[in-house]
Amino acid sequence: MNEFQEKNSDEIRQILAKYPPEYKRSAVMPLLHIAQRRKGYVSPDDIRNIAEILDISSTDVASVSGFYTLFHEEEGGRYRIQICTDLPCALRGAETFLQSVCAELGVAPGETTSDGFFTVEEVKCLAACHRAPVLQVQGEDEIIYHENQTLETFRTLIEDLRRHGQAQKEGA
Ligand code: FES
Repeated sequence: MNEFQEKNSDEIRQILAKYPPEYKRSAVMPLLHIAQRRKGYVSPDDIRNIAEILDISSTDVASVSGFYTLFHEEEGGRYRIQICTDLPCALRGAETFLQSVCAELGVAPGETTSDGFFTVEEVKCLAACHRAPVLQVQGEDEIIYHENQTLETFRTLIEDLRRHGQAQKEGA
């Protein structure tokens, strides 16, 4: 039994019980979710441990976690701001919006602000192409969409998130 399995044994047992043993590889998403919930991202050790539990290769697990923008390979800020820059959104100004967001926060895409609050990421289609620029904010427990964004609406959003994050920090 590996370290990941030991720390989450009850939950992993309950998840695996939902699948016939020969299809236990189907539990890859829920196990990735456990890994990410623990520390905000999925590490190479998590990938190896999950592969071992499911009797599949690390490449199989990594290909699933790499496919979904909701799984992260590295530690990020308290909030991940994910901006779609796919073609339909780019035609509605998403790339310019991304540049403005990065300039506002003083980071490049993929970087985290020095206060640890925000990581800015470029992502593919978020299924709101006609309401671009669009972004989703991934916090600890939820994902919230923000459509038809401008730099002004973004500034308000950032202020709200900072206030909320700060209050949570002080209450912790
Ligand atoms: S292309 Fe950006 S939401 Fe679809």
